[in-house]
Amino acid sequence: MAEANEKLDIGIKAKDHQTVLELKDVDFGYDESHIVLHDINLRIDEPGLYCIIGPNGVGKSTMAKCVSKIVNPLKGEVLINGKNISSMSHKEVAKVVGYVPAFSQDVFSMSVVDTIMIGRHNHRRWGSLSKDLEMVYKAMRILRITDLADKQFNSLSSGQHQKVSIARGLVQETDVLILDEPTANLDVKFQVYVMELLRGIAEKLGIIILTICHDLNVTAKYSHKVIMLERPGRIYAYGTPEEVLTEENIERVYGIRCRVVDEGEFGVPLVILGAPIMSDEIDGT
Ligand SMILES: Nc1ncnc2c1ncn2[C@@H]1O[C@H](COP(=O)(O)OP(=O)(O)O)[C@@H](O)[C@H]1O
Ligand SMILES: [Mg+2]
Repeated sequence: MAEANEKLDIGIKAKDHQTVLELKDVDFGYDESHIVLHDINLRIDEPGLYCIIGPNGVGKSTMAKCVSKIVNPLKGEVLINGKNISSMSHKEVAKVVGYVPAFSQDVFSMSVVDTIMIGRHNHRRWGSLSKDLEMVYKAMRILRITDLADKQFNSLSSGQHQKVSIARGLVQETDVLILDEPTANLDVKFQVYVMELLRGIAEKLGIIILTICHDLNVTAKYSHKVIMLERPGRIYAYGTPEEVLTEENIERVYGIRCRVVDEGEFGVPLVILGAPIMSDEIDGT
């Protein structure tokens, strides 16, 4: 177990309060004539790893952006610990919600250590540098990127970028951490490693980690709950992997035939994908 404990030692204190994230009647559109999210109602009041799944373009990233106040709903409310984020400044929101985008938008050149240090921005105070640096190095160690410390962020591979971005998200010490497709560029071993890590961190720190994931078997194995979106931008199902990842739900939402084996080798549903159902109705966005 030494390995597991070391993996989770990020030097962050567990939360001593319960975090509640709520979306109430949220509608969102990038313009008023094209609504992307419809009537989203969701309440998360237990720490854990929550995976948002659904087909391309359904609104997963948009939902993540609504929760982190990158965009504002046209209607409805996003509440964190009972407080409507529309009444909070971006800085206040950033203290409770960390957001790691799918693709890093950083174009400037900075070392990996400095890039992760940006995540400590809201916690920096006089004399905190050594504690902040220690946390940054712990985060690098658990993501196995210590050897990249002095490399320039914009010289890294996409998988290395992703690990750095996850580390930067973790050191923000927020109640809610949102990661948009954190495993998209990772090799299969690291996909599993990162998801196991995120699940363990959510449990250990008592935080809500909301992540977008495309792999249904990785989702089944690691998430506490799954939020399944269907076109056009609605929640189709919300519950445990066993409740959500059924053959009927996957066929309807993704338009692909599949078989779900009740208990996979690891005691979670195992999804075996079959033929896609190609029709205008299912493929149109
Ligand atoms: N910045 C934007 N401006 C206008 N439309 C956008 C923008 N970002 C996403 N969209 C549109 O919103 C819909 C949902 O996109 P997105 O949330 O990125 O989907 P997902 O993450 O599920 O693939 C898509 O139709 C997409 O084209
Ligand atoms: Mg997306």
